[in-house]
Amino acid sequence: MKNIQEMGSFFFFFMLSWVLGGFFFSCRAASISLQLNDDVLGLIVFKAGIQDPTSSLSSWSEDDDSPCHWNFVQCDRNSGRVTEVSLDGLSLSGKIGRGLEKLQNLQALSLSNNNFSGTINPELARIESLRRLNLSRNSLSGSIPPSLGNMSSIQVLDFSENSLSGTIPDYVFNNCFSLRFVNLGGNSFEGSLPYTLSKCMFLGGLNLSSNHLQGDPDFVNGIWLLKRLRVLDLSNNGFSGPVPEGVAGLHNLKELHLQGNLFSGSLPLDIGFCIHLMHLDFSNNIFSGALPSSFQSLTSLSYLSLAGNNLMGELPPWIGNMKSLQYLDFSSNGFKGILPDSLGNLKLLSYLSLSHNSLSGSIPESLAKCDRLSEIRFRDNLFNGTMALLPFESLQVLDLSKNDLRGSIPPEIIFCSNLTYFNLSWNSLDSRIPPELGDLHMLSELDLRYSGLHGSIAENLCSSKSLSVLALDGNSLSGPIPQEIGSCSNLYVLSLSNNSLNGSIPSSLLKLQKLEVLNMALNKLSGEIPQELGGLESLVAVNLSYNQLTGRLPSGGIFQSLDQSSLEGNLGICSPILNDQPCKMNTPKPLVLDPNAYDGVAGTIVPDLRNSGKSKRKEFLSVSAIIAISAASLIILGVLVVTLLNVSAQRRAPNNIPIDSLSSGGSKCSNQAMGRLVMFEAGSEDWVNNAQSLLNKASEVGRGAFGTLYKATVGEGRVVAIKRLPSSNLSLSEEDFDNEVRNLARARHPNLVGLKGYYWAPQLQLLISEFVPGGSLHERLFSGKSPSLSWAIRFKIALGVAKSLAHLHHACRPTIVHYGLKPSNVLLDANCIPKLSDYGLVRLFSSLGKRGLSMSPGYMAPELTCGSLCVNEKCDVYSFGVLLLEIVSGRRAVEYREDDMVMLCEDVRSMVERGRGLECVDMKMEEYAEEEVVPLLRLGLVCTSQVPSSRPSMAEVVQILQVIKTPVPERMEVF
Ligand SMILES: *[C@@H]1O[C@H](CO)[C@@H](O)[C@H](O)[C@H]1NC(C)=O
Ligand SMILES: *[C@@H]1O[C@H](CO)[C@@H](O)[C@H](O)[C@H]1NC(C)=O
Ligand SMILES: *[C@@H]1O[C@H](CO)[C@@H](O)[C@H](O)[C@H]1NC(C)=O
Repeated sequence: MKNIQEMGSFFFFFMLSWVLGGFFFSCRAASISLQLNDDVLGLIVFKAGIQDPTSSLSSWSEDDDSPCHWNFVQCDRNSGRVTEVSLDGLSLSGKIGRGLEKLQNLQALSLSNNNFSGTINPELARIESLRRLNLSRNSLSGSIPPSLGNMSSIQVLDFSENSLSGTIPDYVFNNCFSLRFVNLGGNSFEGSLPYTLSKCMFLGGLNLSSNHLQGDPDFVNGIWLLKRLRVLDLSNNGFSGPVPEGVAGLHNLKELHLQGNLFSGSLPLDIGFCIHLMHLDFSNNIFSGALPSSFQSLTSLSYLSLAGNNLMGELPPWIGNMKSLQYLDFSSNGFKGILPDSLGNLKLLSYLSLSHNSLSGSIPESLAKCDRLSEIRFRDNLFNGTMALLPFESLQVLDLSKNDLRGSIPPEIIFCSNLTYFNLSWNSLDSRIPPELGDLHMLSELDLRYSGLHGSIAENLCSSKSLSVLALDGNSLSGPIPQEIGSCSNLYVLSLSNNSLNGSIPSSLLKLQKLEVLNMALNKLSGEIPQELGGLESLVAVNLSYNQLTGRLPSGGIFQSLDQSSLEGNLGICSPILNDQPCKMNTPKPLVLDPNAYDGVAGTIVPDLRNSGKSKRKEFLSVSAIIAISAASLIILGVLVVTLLNVSAQRRAPNNIPIDSLSSGGSKCSNQAMGRLVMFEAGSEDWVNNAQSLLNKASEVGRGAFGTLYKATVGEGRVVAIKRLPSSNLSLSEEDFDNEVRNLARARHPNLVGLKGYYWAPQLQLLISEFVPGGSLHERLFSGKSPSLSWAIRFKIALGVAKSLAHLHHACRPTIVHYGLKPSNVLLDANCIPKLSDYGLVRLFSSLGKRGLSMSPGYMAPELTCGSLCVNEKCDVYSFGVLLLEIVSGRRAVEYREDDMVMLCEDVRSMVERGRGLECVDMKMEEYAEEEVVPLLRLGLVCTSQVPSSRPSMAEVVQILQVIKTPVPERMEVF
């Protein structure tokens, strides 16, 4: 306040009161001298009633006059009253007792993630100013006290993950006009939904998940009336009944979670009209019928799960229209028919599960176009084509088990280089084990049981050492178990039963120190069990029954206590368990404990034992085949690598700063640049000698009116930004250039991108500056890729940019005018602190004039468009005003509509004048402070006044912003 008075400008006050809209100002001034001690008293009383094992609240002392400097407490700067108390995750326990109700200006109270117990204190309702109450993740019990229905300002209620019980009372939704978010998830509430809920017109988020709620929610007269809902979560309750049409009225709905209930009937037919839906989960209910065709309009939907219902019919071709899908789960339904080729249009798909349906035909080749797919789960269907497989580098999980697939496992499987899980069990293949499987370095679980394999176990199957589960049971594999199996050092399940494997058990198994399960039953293995296997400490289950093994059991480990059933059906194993038999070493003696139980086996064992030598030789024939296949795959791999290298080289090439241009200008200084590199900071001289390599490593990160921007690493990993100026426009001599750049470099400020140096050559000029990693405000506001900025951050950005401009205008001599302010020049660091770039560059291009080069339409002050020559800092104020409106509205300065161009500031001006300013606010923000938003819009409008002299100075703008700023508590996490 003091600063403002010192400025003593009538104009300033006039503007200020308009910006603040009157009301704000008056309600702030009154309360300063109120009893500050009430807050100290209340907090001390509260602290006295709880346990604080880690002494987190040691700064809370009753001797203090004000609690404003205590930890976890925030005050309003003007009134000195406590506005926020956040005690999240401090291991506090005990009951939430008296005290807090004294904090009559408290707006946000968060006690989340502690161990508070007992019931919710009804006195909390006496804090009339309370807007956000977060008691989530504690051990609170009992029901919600009736007094809570009296909290007329409450916007956010989060009681999730406690042990609250009883019905959800009607009065919880008494305060419907203020309530925005309610989260009661993860408690033990029961009964049905309160009828008062339907009055909560402004509710944006409702989470009642994981309770014991029941009954038909009566969507038509209840939830479908909550038109502002963006997130609705009723999952994991006992709700039942149909989900009728009407959901289309929830225009803003982004997430709908109904999974884990007993909802029945058909899916709501009009769901497709909720075009903003991003997450839809209807899984694990008893929905029936076909997919409503309106689904195809859900082009923003990225998560769709309908798993575990009774849905029927074919998968329609329009499914390919849902282009944003990343996660698609239709498993455990009654879908049938063939898969549409259009699945290949889902380019963003990364998870696809159709398991447990009755789908048939082949797997469409178009699926290979979904090059982000990481999981394909088609288990338990009727797919019966051949296993065509196209390169799928992204694939990690491939489950095709329990189908009727034919043909062989294609060697192209080698392209699935990230595969970790491969399950082809229970199919009708006619295939060998492709040796390529051994080259999959990520492959951990390989299940090929009962899939129609023949031939031998490839020796190199373990060469990548990554396998932890290898199951090949129930095939026609023959030949010996290769010694190389010992390389599978991570194996914990090795199951090879029910094949025709022969030879002896390899002693290399000893190397499998993680092995827990070893199953080799029902083969033709002979000889003795290697004694070394007694050293396998981890083994918990072994089955060697029905082979032709002989001799003494290994002494250590599990073998001492093996069940008889694991050894029966062999030729003669001496074991303490089988102690009826005399132990004669190496005596092949048929030992059939119960000949009736395994009829016929005893008869085949003896002849096979005699033949075992011959059958080994037969298997060696296949080695040449293996070599041929391996060679072919090596060639393919080589070609692939070369291609990739070429592609990446091509991609990189144009991004490099052409080094040739460094030495152009007639001189043949070969490598040595003839320009000059000047660094302003001490300690960076070493770069000078290294200019060449610095530029070599640079990569392009952006382009703008003032040239192309590169990123490069110098010295010990320091990253800098390098801007290559469009030299054709540059008219300055080297000396003038040096002067101007040094001027700019002197303008140091935390919200300015610092200039570190430059490079000058007649044909090439580079500016070297600090690298700001977080991208530009433009990307964050408009690209829609990164999560939307919160209000607190937006405000911080506005204030930071204002400060940097005020610095340029008022603290720098000569004054620096930016001339090119727009969101793409506002860079954000990792903490979203704004840093202005490209300031004053226009001075380097004075030959072009100040117009034309820098200003983008929409940001250009009207006096510039009119060709007025009297331009000064007020142009920046204008651009700043536009930027402010963009920050609040999330809209661009100029929007091109069908046959029309909409100027943001004109649009906002007419809305604000009609009292509808709030409608301009960016819908992507979940929460914002209304008492800040409207003044900010008004400030933006003052700054964009047509007449330059009506615009405030940047120093005044900073002052106004600081007055507007209320100490807003960090947004509470509700969902
Ligand atoms: C939370 O409090 C209960 C008793 O109220 C106690 O049994 C439990 O160990 C506490 N848990 C933690 C994590 O402090
Ligand atoms: C709610 O407020 C009204 C009026 O202020 C009061 O009469 C009533 O007792 C309050 N209810 C509860 C449960 O505190
Ligand atoms: C492979 O699929 C079968 C049948 O679907 C399943 O029973 C088995 O557990 C799966 N194997 C692995 C390793 O997950």
